[in-house]
Amino acid sequence: MSKSVIIINGPNLNLLGTREPEIYGAVTLKDIEAGTRAHGEKIGIEIDFFQSNNEGELVDAIQGAAGKHGGIILNAAAYTHTSVALQDAIKATGVPTIEVHLSNVFSREEFRHHSYISPVAAGVICGFGAKGYVLALDALADLID
Ligand code: DQA
Repeated sequence: MSKSVIIINGPNLNLLGTREPEIYGAVTLKDIEAGTRAHGEKIGIEIDFFQSNNEGELVDAIQGAAGKHGGIILNAAAYTHTSVALQDAIKATGVPTIEVHLSNVFSREEFRHHSYISPVAAGVICGFGAKGYVLALDALADLID
């Protein structure tokens, strides 16, 4: 499988930088993209980066990874807690997926404690802000070796 990874971001993550900075900090999605691309170059992994506010487009992006990308890094944002469709897409494609959240969802509201992604993810990283994406990239690098 190719040494390439797609990073998929769900709803409202396009607003990072101005969205609830007390929770998500000042980092923008562009900053996260630049940081993960730079790290990817260092460790020899090509990166596609995608964001959508629409559930179906996220499903399409997951399906599109099959046969094209060795792994998926997924911050499904609020759809994490609601979407059977995203869980089914990950199962159907079988592409190793790491679930990432900027915030520690377990220290927040109860409804954020349940994830439809975790049962089908290779691993979960949350609470480390933008660094979580870099950690996920390192973890995937080992998985797709
Ligand atoms: C989030 C956590 C989710 O609960 C929330 O709906 C988000 C962002 C995170 O990165 O911390 O939109 O996925």
